[in-house]
Amino acid sequence: MVAAGQALSLRQQRPVAHRQQDVMAASAVGQLAEGDTPVALHACGDLHVRLMAVATEAGCRQLAIAPCCYNRTQADTYQALSTRAQRSTLLLARHDLALVASEAVTAGRRVCRQRDTSMARRLGFDLWQRQLRGEDSYLPTPSLPASWQALSMRQWCMSMAALKGLQAPAEADWPRLEQQGWQRLAQVRNLELLRNLFRRPLELWLALDRALYLQQAGFRVRMGTFCAATLTPRNVLLLAER
Ligand SMILES: C[S@@+](CC[C@H](N)C(=O)[O-])C[C@H]1O[C@@H](n2cnc3c(N)ncnc32)[C@H](O)[C@@H]1O
Repeated sequence: MVAAGQALSLRQQRPVAHRQQDVMAASAVGQLAEGDTPVALHACGDLHVRLMAVATEAGCRQLAIAPCCYNRTQADTYQALSTRAQRSTLLLARHDLALVASEAVTAGRRVCRQRDTSMARRLGFDLWQRQLRGEDSYLPTPSLPASWQALSMRQWCMSMAALKGLQAPAEADWPRLEQQGWQRLAQVRNLELLRNLFRRPLELWLALDRALYLQQAGFRVRMGTFCAATLTPRNVLLLAER
């Protein structure tokens, strides 16, 4: 990415220096000086938190951040940044934070259909494996290569059974299992409707925590959106100025 960026800048004759830097490393501090304006597009959890801390320490006068993937963090539970949020009784696990970026707005119709098919199969397989094992509990299935998309329900289930080391009879009512999988997927989607109601409010709560943190560090902060949600649903932008 660094090399591709450098090539692009050269081609467009932009005086840009591209550097590789682990922003979590101590050496990141030396990359920023008072006169710099950090801009971070879709910087994941710990990365943008680190940027805010480093920029504050370096005395930067302004910065712009569009946060993303709040769940990409070392801590198992959410560590509020601002005093105000620290006082809140809201307790968030890393898993809760994953809700924010779990939306598939920009995926195409084909990709959505493929994901649905894969999930319906897993849910159909789940019913079958409960019978096979004689145990009424969920068996996690790994993510699969795209080639599995082309398999029939029978082939899919037999391959997954082999992968999980299950003794499986060669025959089953495959069309029924497949149909039950789709029915369960519809139920899952209905349950998600309720959960999804909390996505944007949670995202705004987290973004506001960042805004308050920057405010505490002496910045004047504006929070808004920088593009339509159809382009990217992670469209919240924080603009901070001293
Ligand atoms: C969601 S992407 C956004 C990238 C880019 N700003 C964009 O909008 O296309 C997050 C980026 O952070 C990079 N990243 C992850 N950990 C990092 C670290 N410790 N230091 C620097 N970059 C890191 C990833 O490689 C990835 O390119």
